[in-house]
Order: sequence, then structure tokens, then C-alpha cells
Amino acid sequence: NSNSLILHDCLLQICELLEANISYYNWVGFYFRNGNKEELKLNAYVGEPTDHTIIPFGKGICGQVALSNQNFVVPDVAAQDNYIACSITVKAEIVIPIFVNGENMGQIDIDSNTPDPFTKADERFLEFVCEQVASIL
Ligand code: SME
Repeated sequence: NSNSLILHDCLLQICELLEANISYYNWVGFYFRNGNKEELKLNAYVGEPTDHTIIPFGKGICGQVALSNQNFVVPDVAAQDNYIACSITVKAEIVIPIFVNGENMGQIDIDSNTPDPFTKADERFLEFVCEQVASIL
């Protein structure tokens, strides 16, 4: 419907802004819970297209955040065994959950081609971004 198109466009602008302005943000996307299913569905993103548009809860970094409700900062993706590789150029990943009324609705997922680039400042900044997104869901 038109609301979901407007939301997608807004999220896409956020992805574009982040990717364009932060050199080590190389793939930026939003996943949301897919209805009542125990899976995530990719919404807006920038960067290389991925085959992983649906991710079951528990699977990969994203799927783990869907269950843990915690930020997940991965300095080195090669050291993770529950990890879904989207591109061989990716070295690090950060996933921050999005809460609406305390419920985990989805997440922002960022891949970096730089090893160990994410700091506490990235976490605080992306938590802020996720709060703003939550307010328009
Ligand atoms: N690496 C993620 C999958 C999504 S891609 O990064 C776009 C994961 O392990 O959940």
C-alpha cells in the first residue's frame, strides 16, 4: 500500500545518507519482522544486492539479533560461525535492533569492508537512528 511505499522511500534515504557520508558503512539496510513469521524480511538497502532477503530468526548475525534484542558488533566476520556471507569483501558488521513499545520490530544492518571499524560512538549513533525509525513505523 502507499504507506509502505512512503516508509520504504524514507528508509532508503536514510540508507543512502549513511552510506554516502560514513566511509566504512559499505552496505546499509533495514530488515523487519515478516508479519507474524519467525523471520526477517529485507526492506530498503544500499550496496550490493543480496540473496538473503529473508532470514529465519536465529540464523546469521541478523537472525541472532531478532532473538537477543541486543546490539551485535562483529569486528571480524571470519571469526563468526553463525554468519551469513553476502559478499566476500565484507570484513565487519553491526546490527542494531529497532524497538516499538519494547517490541523488537527489526533492525539496521551495516556491513563494512574495513576490519574492526565500529566504535561505541557508532552504536550510540545507530541506536539514535533506530529510535527515529521506530517513531515513524
Ligand atoms: N551478514 C548478515 C546477513 C545479511 S547481509 O549482511 C546483507 C548475517 O549474518 O545475518
